[in-house]
Amino acid sequence: MTTMDERTIAELIRADRAHFIHPQYYAPDHENPIVFDHGEGVWLTDARGRRYIDGLASLWNVAVGHGRGELADAAAAQMRKLAFTSAYTGFTNVPAIELAQKVLELTYDNMAGVFYTNSGSESNEGALKVARFYWNLQGRPDKVKLIARERSYHGGTLATSSMTGMAPFWKYFGPMVPEIVHTRKPDNLECDCEPNTDGECAHWMEAAIEREGANTVAAVICEPVKGAGGVFPPSDDYFRTLREICDRHDVLMIADEVITGFGRTGHWFALQRWDVQPDILSIAKAITSAYVPMGAFIVSRPIMDALQDLPPDARFMHAYTNSGHPAAAAVGLRNLQIFEDENLVANAAAMGDRLMDGLRSRLGGHAHVTNIRGLGLMAGFTLVRDAERGTPYEPSEATGGKVARHMREEGGVITRFVGDHIVMAPPLVVNGDEIDIMLGAVDSAVRAVAGE
Ligand SMILES: Cc1ncc(COP(=O)(O)O)c(C=O)c1O
Repeated sequence: MTTMDERTIAELIRADRAHFIHPQYYAPDHENPIVFDHGEGVWLTDARGRRYIDGLASLWNVAVGHGRGELADAAAAQMRKLAFTSAYTGFTNVPAIELAQKVLELTYDNMAGVFYTNSGSESNEGALKVARFYWNLQGRPDKVKLIARERSYHGGTLATSSMTGMAPFWKYFGPMVPEIVHTRKPDNLECDCEPNTDGECAHWMEAAIEREGANTVAAVICEPVKGAGGVFPPSDDYFRTLREICDRHDVLMIADEVITGFGRTGHWFALQRWDVQPDILSIAKAITSAYVPMGAFIVSRPIMDALQDLPPDARFMHAYTNSGHPAAAAVGLRNLQIFEDENLVANAAAMGDRLMDGLRSRLGGHAHVTNIRGLGLMAGFTLVRDAERGTPYEPSEATGGKVARHMREEGGVITRFVGDHIVMAPPLVVNGDEIDIMLGAVDSAVRAVAGE
């Protein structure tokens, strides 16, 4: 096991602080970063040799766990044979063809075509572009708007930051991309839908489509479970009702399954739980378990047919150098083989149940915990001053941050807090003992920070 001496660590951190602009950068947050050294399964080890459970699968993406030699071997073999070649017009490669076939086998029955990207942001950006392109092909060029939901996260490009339904992601970056709008609670809502865990229902989307005018709306975009916003699963009816609303208004449904795709919710893809099919599907993260970056947007049969039957003056002028990268595709194929060999989708469902049961039994009646929620191996809860009255903590109290820090420093479990929401999503290879360690850490942290 490699560990580093204190001088080396201090020098690395000095250089990090001096030169490394981190995602969601705020320099004081990087005063004393953990320098990771290696990982195995759900465990990460830092440069001092301290071990942590990776309670968020790093960024929801290291599905098969750390240190998988099979994936390194798959990358090395493909790199030796053919690391890269163009997939632009007239060229293709074997791993990219095979991975497209494999992914289509696993996704919704109506899906027919795969466009490879390098990230979830690029997948969502492409999803919007292909939606607009499709409507133009249908002779409906006015259908350009995209409606996204509050509290959703869709990426870091300008268009996907605009899709993201959280204001801090817009501050100082404006003007944001026009024609991308968000749902809000309708004024006179009369329906008897069971609300989602964050309070909205599908009629919020219908109200937004009507507000904007359906003939101007290309698509809606939804995460099946809002992830980065704090893990908010939908009601059982949400996506069935939304599908019906989209069909009635002639609006495409984009499912952003960048987190929920590939087993995270206990199904290969989240909407399979409700027997709902989107028109466009965005994926990334777990397609390669993040061993190399890769993503894709995937289109339904009617959209694929339209793309394959373009008029002579139209070409889908959308491209990335690394689209269909052979080495990334080889890793993706081997990664999905691991999923199948190790029954990881079923394991996600079983371990997710254990995590939810444990959270409910340990924190269910706690005076400062509310809204314990989850789907598959994604779980969250909210810390509040008074659970009975639903009174929140003041943001300045930073209760969520304190709980997450206690979990990390005392319990050895790394996870995410979003304000006062604590979220957990370990790698899909997690076992029962490791779930119990996570539960012990979260239980102690809540009691230490918020009281018994
Ligand atoms: C639901 C969702 N969509 C899109 C993205 C953006 O993906 P990336 O960071 O790979 O660009 C993320 C990232 O966390 C995400 O959670």
